[in-house]
Amino acid sequence: MSYDPGYMNTAVCTSRITFIDGEKGILRYRGYPIEQLASKSSFMETAFLLLYGELPSEAQLKHFCARVYHHQTALHADIVALLQTIRHDAHCMTSVISALAAMSALHPEANPALEGQAVYSSRKTRESQMFTLLGAFPTLAAHVLLRRSGSSVPCLPAPSLSTLLDPARPRAYVEYFLLLLGLGKARPGEEGPDPRVVRALDVILLAHADHELNCSTAALRHLTSSGVDVYTAVAGATGALYGPLHGGATEAVLRMLQQIGTEERIPAFLEAVKAKEAKLMGFGHRVYKNYDPRAVLVREVAYEVFQVYGADPLIHVATALETAARSDNYFVSRKLYPNIDFYSGLVYKAIGFPLDFFPVLFTMGRMAGWLAHWEELLIGPEEEKKIVRPRQIYLGPAERAFLPIEARGHDGIAAEPERLLPSTTRARL
Ligand code: ACO
Repeated sequence: MSYDPGYMNTAVCTSRITFIDGEKGILRYRGYPIEQLASKSSFMETAFLLLYGELPSEAQLKHFCARVYHHQTALHADIVALLQTIRHDAHCMTSVISALAAMSALHPEANPALEGQAVYSSRKTRESQMFTLLGAFPTLAAHVLLRRSGSSVPCLPAPSLSTLLDPARPRAYVEYFLLLLGLGKARPGEEGPDPRVVRALDVILLAHADHELNCSTAALRHLTSSGVDVYTAVAGATGALYGPLHGGATEAVLRMLQQIGTEERIPAFLEAVKAKEAKLMGFGHRVYKNYDPRAVLVREVAYEVFQVYGADPLIHVATALETAARSDNYFVSRKLYPNIDFYSGLVYKAIGFPLDFFPVLFTMGRMAGWLAHWEELLIGPEEEKKIVRPRQIYLGPAERAFLPIEARGHDGIAAEPERLLPSTTRARL
């Protein structure tokens, strides 16, 4: 056995989807540099590339968009009802994870537990799940946010809005999502979102679309290896993404910037980080030991969005923080650079998304990559279709005889005094 906590040095599969050279700061999807895709492509086109391995023809892209958009037009009434049962002030990811898992109940025909393990051997069945998840997700996310915003009756998309989902327009995916929420307008009273905002969000989704075996994609493959249905696997991956060390970092960065507040307080904050009393969120990466190329793209996009809404004062704190960290030996010697999450929260905030919705936007982009990995595992080499089952090194007691309760004494585990729950939590129970 090899002992490798956190899989620092263990490859568990082969893949043809994403290439990263962390030392050089290179990221490619199916061979195409992320910078070229961001400037010349759209999220929908890139999702096609990730799922099918090649860039689409015009007709293929239109067909793909039509299949995806079909699922954007409405959210199943059961999911709307489920979302209503979750507290309106729950973290958005709680609702998203629950709703994704519940979608499994709507697709018994594609559930290996009910239909047998061969159910995903049909390409048609696999594609159908991919279109459903990609298409339903933005509408599901919009419902979660409407509920989060205190809307007592989340609105189903108006039929008139659906006509905007023109399959000839790949960015309609993002535009429609913003329309449902009434966000992205340059000025109140305008009909639809500003094209600069639509492009910005589209580029951010594209930049998040895949990142080889990150924590959540590894979780997706882990769950898939047990033969579970894709909705449950995606719900599990979303749970992994939620954590502040992964997709939750965008939200954590914003909270950190708000806490620092002004540039004068940066030196004291960095001292706390170096003393390991705090973490510089949005910095560092398991694979990148250079600038994360996605962070470059997102920083550019941030300035484009600021042209629409004006610069967020926290951008000055963020750039000064980056400059200070990158000239400090603690960060330089550990090769800690800004990652994709360092600037994306400022874009989301400028558009008007609340902080606890930020990981939902990350999930929306990553869905494409998860589905590409899901399919790659299902149709990949037989020898890689092993249930994921790492080994452990047991350090507990050797065999010992059972002790009757009266002979056990009171040493060992001290009984903790029960602490009262905070009043805010008690009020919910
Ligand atoms: N702030 C301060 N110190 C850091 C940071 C940070 N953000 N990141 C790493 N370090 C330090 C560690 O304390 C450690 O120092 P040591 O050698 O003195 O013990 C050293 O750098 C190596 O860090 P590890 O935690 O061992 O690196 P690992 O690869 O395990 O973790 C991770 C990577 C989780 C991303 C880490 O850098 C981190 O916590 N960053 C902040 C959270 C974040 O931004 N996450 C988003 C990642 S990108 C994404 O998922 C989309």
